[in-house]
Amino acid sequence: MRNFDEFTITDAVMERLKDARDARTHQISAALVRHLHAFIREVEPTFAEWEAGIDFLTRTGHFCDDKRQEFILLSDTLGVSMLVDAINHRGAGASTETTVLGPFFVQDAPECEHGADISGGIAGEPLLISGTVCGSDDKPLPGAVVDIWHSDSDGYYDVQQLDEIGDLAMRARLRTDAHGRFRCWSIKPAAYPIPHDGPVGQMLEAQGRHPWRPAHVHFMIWAARHEKLVTHIFAAGDRYLDSDVVFGVKDSLIGAFVEKPPGGAEDGRVLERPYWHLHHDFRLRLDTADAALAADRLPA
Ligand code: BEZ
Ligand code: FE
Repeated sequence: MRNFDEFTITDAVMERLKDARDARTHQISAALVRHLHAFIREVEPTFAEWEAGIDFLTRTGHFCDDKRQEFILLSDTLGVSMLVDAINHRGAGASTETTVLGPFFVQDAPECEHGADISGGIAGEPLLISGTVCGSDDKPLPGAVVDIWHSDSDGYYDVQQLDEIGDLAMRARLRTDAHGRFRCWSIKPAAYPIPHDGPVGQMLEAQGRHPWRPAHVHFMIWAARHEKLVTHIFAAGDRYLDSDVVFGVKDSLIGAFVEKPPGGAEDGRVLERPYWHLHHDFRLRLDTADAALAADRLPA
């Protein structure tokens, strides 16, 4: 087969896929070719534009290393990450809604006791974070693992300033008590721009978009025989709730950071200054597909 033109080239590439190693590889490859060719037919790029596109993807790759994943940031900012998340959580109704993981999760965060201060001494307004974890039957889940992480009051995560602060902070791994409860102290996070000093930042600027996310606290929660939950709770009233650069906000994930006067807090700690309290009750979904494996996935 030869002499392909703009009308025959798509079918020719499709034909070459017929010996793909399995049906799924064939399906994915065929969809990729079909949509890519349709995109090119719609856009009709000049050679200069085609080269600029290749250069953009090349620079996106070069920006990736073990600390920076520019391709995931690209996926996040084009709404692809939230689309994948939505497709994989269809019918999740009874459980807490999910949102993007983001680049600042750290495996094996420090384990902390119930009620610990996880701020690492970073300056900020005190924040009590508390919650409960239950199954879709509303029964509390004792011993669930709750990973928490968030930014400081300038919008920076610990891993973005490790040289200055020396150690992980504003993150911890807690376990729920016999009643499915957890709680810790930290500092109030702020809204922040995603890393925008690379190709994705240039793309946002070209598209006339800002790089900001509303203030939030991240949660990743595991419990035996339940699906792992990856979510955030966003600060009610934040100016970026309706324009989150990664499209991650859902109404059910907006929580009140309630301002409290100085004095005795809910856990008996006495504060000489005002503090904030964020409480959220989380619900996990039974991992029906993979119940045995789910139990094994619980971190030690
Ligand atoms: C975050 O919330 O940490 C985040 C999510 C997506 C992209 C960048 C940051
Ligand atoms: Fe974040």
